[in-house]
Amino acid sequence: MAQARIDVDALVAEIMRSPKYKDTPIAEATVRDLVLMELGHYKKEKDLVKAVRKKLHRIVAAYLGDPDYAAATQELTQSADSGSSEQLRAVCARLLETHLSTRERLPIYDQFYAGIFAVTGRPSALMDVACGLNPLSFAWMNLPPTTRYYAYDINQQRVDLLNHAFVLQGLAPLARVQDVLVDPPQEQADVAFLFKEVHRLEARQRGSSLRLLESLPVRWIAVSLPTQNSNGSHDLRDRHRQLLATIIAGKPWTTTELEFESELVFCLDKQAVSLGNV
Ligand SMILES: C[S@@+](CC[C@H](N)C(=O)[O-])C[C@H]1O[C@@H](n2cnc3c(N)ncnc32)[C@H](O)[C@@H]1O
Repeated sequence: MAQARIDVDALVAEIMRSPKYKDTPIAEATVRDLVLMELGHYKKEKDLVKAVRKKLHRIVAAYLGDPDYAAATQELTQSADSGSSEQLRAVCARLLETHLSTRERLPIYDQFYAGIFAVTGRPSALMDVACGLNPLSFAWMNLPPTTRYYAYDINQQRVDLLNHAFVLQGLAPLARVQDVLVDPPQEQADVAFLFKEVHRLEARQRGSSLRLLESLPVRWIAVSLPTQNSNGSHDLRDRHRQLLATIIAGKPWTTTELEFESELVFCLDKQAVSLGNV
């Protein structure tokens, strides 16, 4: 049976105009990529749109929590105007609490970054890939404002808030709307963070996380995965260790594992072989 011609541009525009994404704009490249990926699987446009929306829902993951962006922007400005770095840090902590990934990490941030940088060294440039709100934790990294902190997310509101917070802290506004699977980061950095996202990237497209890990132009990548499911009923340590091992099987990279209560971090050294330490 001949498939009806589907106008990809029109479909992408229709999905982006839908009430869900009209007020929380996301990268067009993400929607287009999903439409193109699902195109061959559906004969009816209605079914294709449904499948794309379902995948987008999981990728955007608004259910993990968001701050009120206008209020958050104002709060950050006011706390910076007060001149108190403690007040700015307190506002960042409150905002980090609004999203599940960072809420779980909040009690461990100090040890978390100290542990990672003890393995990787202190970066002068870092990239936070599929960053969510995590760059609001810059104050916990103990790095100077000269640090080049690249941050990538598909959510425009998050990126705007992060750049606002960066500038208030004296950092360059290097957060950008970019789908890292469609358009992998090209900036040079010492360390990349890929926190709590590998399992989700694999759900979007199996094999995509290895391609991303390979392409990142950094020596070190700190990949993390949660130790339990979102309601805490299942321990996921072994499953997630296995997942990471399967993804990087065959790669000559060394892995240093750090275990925190809520998160496993795998520090991958992509230059291990050429340095002769394996
Ligand atoms: C589960 S949250 C994790 C946030 C952060 N990495 C952390 O652990 O705190 C996922 C974030 O990744 C973003 N995201 C998902 N897929 C992406 C992609 N392909 N490129 C860039 N950002 C992406 C989402 O918009 C969301 O903000």
